[in-house]
Amino acid sequence: MKPIRKAVFPVAGLGTRFLPATKAIPKEMLPIVDRPLIQYAVDEAREAGIEQMIFVTGRGKSAIEDHFDIAFELEKTMSERGKDLSVLEPTRLGPGNCAYVRQQEPLGLGHAIWCARDIVGDEPFAIFLPDEFMHGSPGCMKQMVDAYHRVGGNLISVLEVPHEQVSSYGVITPGARDGALTEVRGLVEKPKAEDAPSNLIVSGRYILQPEVMRVLQRQEKGAGGEIQLTDAMAEMIDSQAFHAVTFDGARYDCGSKAGYIQANLAVALERPDMADEVRAFALDLLK
Ligand code: UTP
Repeated sequence: MKPIRKAVFPVAGLGTRFLPATKAIPKEMLPIVDRPLIQYAVDEAREAGIEQMIFVTGRGKSAIEDHFDIAFELEKTMSERGKDLSVLEPTRLGPGNCAYVRQQEPLGLGHAIWCARDIVGDEPFAIFLPDEFMHGSPGCMKQMVDAYHRVGGNLISVLEVPHEQVSSYGVITPGARDGALTEVRGLVEKPKAEDAPSNLIVSGRYILQPEVMRVLQRQEKGAGGEIQLTDAMAEMIDSQAFHAVTFDGARYDCGSKAGYIQANLAVALERPDMADEVRAFALDLLK
């Protein structure tokens, strides 16, 4: 079984739900307290033993490249003033550990992944949607990599949502269940609530075999006229092992405004340096 060494971060979406905040700043750079969403995703990948981070970017996303680069002036000035630089440590991705490719047009998530095909090569790889903020220890991808070592093949993270919400997501047809692992028998993108095979939705983390790139190569359009990753995965179910992992932790949909606020509050209330202050003003606001 080949190890999971590479992760793809598709960050070329337009982030229209957060306009005007995301007009000049990528959605993935919005902070949860004091760390951008993309940093949490990269930290989660590292914890899972992943070495190479591949970002699929687009126009207006250069802040992500700057974030993971050395900030020479900042670091020099901070050290001259005797400030602690350790806070910048997680932002260091050495040149051998990251790569950037451009998706020139936002043709869909499946197309964004396909743009990384040459760097991924012929090995299984992970995918992170950074606006799905997965919070827990061990992290979601670590839990998935552990499951991968047991069952191999393809894995996706899933979670249960109220049935009326399924039409915004990829939904699985579940098979046999064994603890946190569920066999995946089918996958459909954004079904109508009445047609949905379950209320288990795909939640932003994947481990896929490289054959998915060959399916994506055909560039077939699906829901919303976009090239959908879900459709490509659905084609692989009959020929390869496919499992879903239910994440033991919390998930916040930071692509939506309410989910983003919820994540900020949840993390702030866990932070020893600010929890008391935040709890006090939150209680005050709720009065
Ligand atoms: P979303 O559906 O959340 O779209 O994409 P979005 O553009 O980021 O945000 P809204 O809906 O306009 O507010 C899911 C993930 O797929 C990436 C996005 O960056 C996000 O991580 N994506 C989507 C691409 O990289 N390219 C695409 O063409 C579409």
